[in-house]
Amino acid sequence: MNIALIGSGGREHALCHKLFESSIVNKIYCIPGNAGTNSIAKNLNIDFLNFNRLLSVIKLYNIDLVVVGPELPLVKGIVDFLRKNKIKVFGPDKYAAQLEGSKAFMKYLCKKNKIPTAGFKICKNKKDINIFLAQHKMPIVVKADGLASGKGVVICYSKKEVEKFSNEIFLGKFKSSKKLVLEEFLEGEEVSYFLIVDKKRFSFIGSAQDHKRVGENETGPNTGGMGAYSPAPVINKDLEKKIIKNIVEPTLKALRERNHSYTGFLYVGLMIKNNDPYLIEYNVRMGDPECQVILPRLKTDLGKLLKASVENKLNKIKIKWSESKCMSIVLCSKGYPNRQIVNKKIDLRQIKLTNKSFIFHASTKIKNGLFFSNGGRVLNIVVLGNTFLKIRNQIIKIIKIINWKFGFFRKDIGWRVINKR
Ligand code: AMP
Ligand code: GLY
Repeated sequence: MNIALIGSGGREHALCHKLFESSIVNKIYCIPGNAGTNSIAKNLNIDFLNFNRLLSVIKLYNIDLVVVGPELPLVKGIVDFLRKNKIKVFGPDKYAAQLEGSKAFMKYLCKKNKIPTAGFKICKNKKDINIFLAQHKMPIVVKADGLASGKGVVICYSKKEVEKFSNEIFLGKFKSSKKLVLEEFLEGEEVSYFLIVDKKRFSFIGSAQDHKRVGENETGPNTGGMGAYSPAPVINKDLEKKIIKNIVEPTLKALRERNHSYTGFLYVGLMIKNNDPYLIEYNVRMGDPECQVILPRLKTDLGKLLKASVENKLNKIKIKWSESKCMSIVLCSKGYPNRQIVNKKIDLRQIKLTNKSFIFHASTKIKNGLFFSNGGRVLNIVVLGNTFLKIRNQIIKIIKIINWKFGFFRKDIGWRVINKR
């Protein structure tokens, strides 16, 4: 089958790499892709939010399955549009994508179905804010309701901070919504739990932990993710049962009852406290960089798996995993996540990869056969191995060989699982 893969980040390069290995995948078209996908697929420089243009390209290239990487097209209804036009597509519809697209939608769904999550109030004005402030202690988490490219959440330690950030949201700082959610602060260990879902059932597709802060020792501003590792040892059998029974099943049942059965990847963002899971967020896609550390461990043919999901035959596939552990460190452009330098040459010719090491491109482009940086997160250096410490050392060795003077990275990725040993 021919695949159109929507997106251009490290997640999409990892998906593309795995689909390239699939025995049932013929051609892959990345829309728009990056310099990494360019070497194994055909990149098409098309605005994927222009759905009509996208449809004509899908028809032109005889695409059998569209795989959607990022959240924005899902939240904007790409799945509904393509399905209406009889195109097979992997991902949730617009209604179900509100799990990520609207924090208010997600929190109401939790409340109605008794899903464990932080106490909250949806606020539309100052009066709402004051009611919540009078009833709760600091810290308080302020969240913009709509998509905000990772910039919509602030943990506040004073009333003043809550008022300031809330005011900015009410005044329209984020175009997607002027509502916000105030939440109690949950203490614990954060972990991401992934599922692949069809209309009738779901299968586990990995656990991971990522590092969102830009600086070592979890300091500095939040980023899209500076590195990740899989599996996450904090997940045990007992916890997994609770995640499924208390969080996943009631969510999928609620959507089914509203005639919007979920399909696609589901990213369950959790806080674990005293071996009990609390839902922090849903994302309606794979994580980035979590995808880059989960897929190298997957032994099952990804093409077959995605096909089974869109045909509601996930029960026919037993998902197999490598015993190895996997880690990714992201090589970023200096200045990220504020104002990073871009368009700098990056030379990978000295790098010799094995079947246990990978470079997944994120923001790169190709000019005259050479790689150039094109954004904040540039490359994911990914290694499979037996211990996280050895893996991390190997990744750092590769980064030293790349020796990119315009970049930086965190040397402490995986500290939680390495320091414990
Ligand atoms: P979200 O976009 O909802 O995932 O929030 C971004 C990040 O903020 C999460 O990954 C957590 O690290 C943190 N966070 C969000 N909500 C809470 C909460 N209620 N308590 C503690 N930390 C939170
Ligand atoms: N790494 C966090 C995310 O993909 O949302």
